[in-house]
Amino acid sequence: MAENTTPHETTKERHKDAPERLVKVWDLPTRLFHWTLVAMVLLGYLTGYLFPENTMGIHLWAGYITVVLLVFRLTWGLFGSEYSRLETFTFSPVHILEHMKELATLRPVKHYIGHNPTGSIMVFGLLFVLATITLSGLLVLGGEENQGPLAGAASFEVGDLAKGVHSAFVILLAVMIVAHVGGVYMEIKLTGENLVKSMISGLKKVPAGTPELLHRQARPLAALTVIAAFVSLAGSMLWVFSTMPPSGLLTLPANKTYESECGDCHLPFHPSLLSSDSWKQMLENLDDHFGDDATISGDTLIEVTAYLTNYGGDKWDTEASNRFNIVDPKAPYQITATPYWVRKHEGVDPNFFKLKKVGAKSNCGGCHTDHYSGRFDDQKIKIPKE
Ligand code: HEC
Ligand code: HEC
Repeated sequence: MAENTTPHETTKERHKDAPERLVKVWDLPTRLFHWTLVAMVLLGYLTGYLFPENTMGIHLWAGYITVVLLVFRLTWGLFGSEYSRLETFTFSPVHILEHMKELATLRPVKHYIGHNPTGSIMVFGLLFVLATITLSGLLVLGGEENQGPLAGAASFEVGDLAKGVHSAFVILLAVMIVAHVGGVYMEIKLTGENLVKSMISGLKKVPAGTPELLHRQARPLAALTVIAAFVSLAGSMLWVFSTMPPSGLLTLPANKTYESECGDCHLPFHPSLLSSDSWKQMLENLDDHFGDDATISGDTLIEVTAYLTNYGGDKWDTEASNRFNIVDPKAPYQITATPYWVRKHEGVDPNFFKLKKVGAKSNCGGCHTDHYSGRFDDQKIKIPKE
């Protein structure tokens, strides 16, 4: 062997005739990460689009687990074994374009042991999109639903804006998943290497003649330390936020007069469900109340008016108060005629409203077990059996 060859060349020499062989490319943590992420994304789509709203709890867990997975993957990108490291699939734009051109010719392309250049943009893109989806999701949860660690920090308006981002990125993610699966399929066709199988077994075929590979070992302890540090830092930050009381959710004192005067014919509606103005006008016209005479007068009227206008929808910043504020001009005092109520209950089986324990659309408490708080959480929807 020549004295002046570099170690790298020496290796090349030695393996000039190395046969095609299987090498371990994806370590177990990376494979577990990949398939757990697939499961969480699938669960996210199912609970977000298909399943009923009261599976929102599962949706949230899928999101929280995704955050942990992302933190894990980035950390493993620094301390994982060779091909899990981000630097092994950080390619220059020239390199990426070259690979794309090769793919476009549909002829067998250059073999990459880890992620190929086009695949690597997908990995970074997916990580970015997933991070945006989970962060915007936390803002929607805090702002619109008044739940989660940001319930006190995010206003309804912020939550509503975040919802736009969340929805758009969820669609973008779907497009990327299609492209990712398509890319994998194409790569399988072009290189003959079953990438799905190798993401399960961790093994990939390397062509004959490939030099002995540099293969740095994982540093699980270092990875664990960084993850623990991150989780405790982010966790305590979120904990500080979560000690703030939910924004725009008032503590509503009970009012016996209101409950007895307005709770006879139907449940006493939560004051946040109509604006103070609407309540005021309704109370001025109680002699013709949806065809009934519900007249009250004197001190009783004054007390009920004060209660409903002090706690009317405009004083709150919840999803219900914001949404029900927009009324149908033809029925300005009817919660069940507001465009939002109609839209949200369009898909609800009409027979549910006729159940013995429900009886009417306006009997919110029949299905929303938390109606008395004005929260109307998705997780608190329970349709009674009869
Ligand atoms: C004599 C019976 C009666 C009393 C008392 C009564 N209501 Fe009603 N209320 C009705 C009927 C009937 C309807 C229409 C049917 C329905 O929505 O359940 C109605 C509907 C409503 C609605 C609209 C519900 C919807 O469908 O969106 C509101 C809001 C409301 N009432 C508030 C009040 C308030 C506030 C008081 C007390 C000042 C009151 N009601 C007292 C009979 C009554
Ligand atoms: C028959 C049962 C039933 C009754 C009665 C009912 N709801 Fe609902 N409501 C539902 C269901 C089911 C959903 C979820 C619909 C979906 O999956 O989009 C829902 C959704 C909602 C939401 C949206 C929750 C969210 O965070 O997305 C609000 C707010 C709401 N209802 C308020 C009311 C109010 C106010 C009343 C009374 C005036 C009422 N509901 C009466 C069953 C009911």
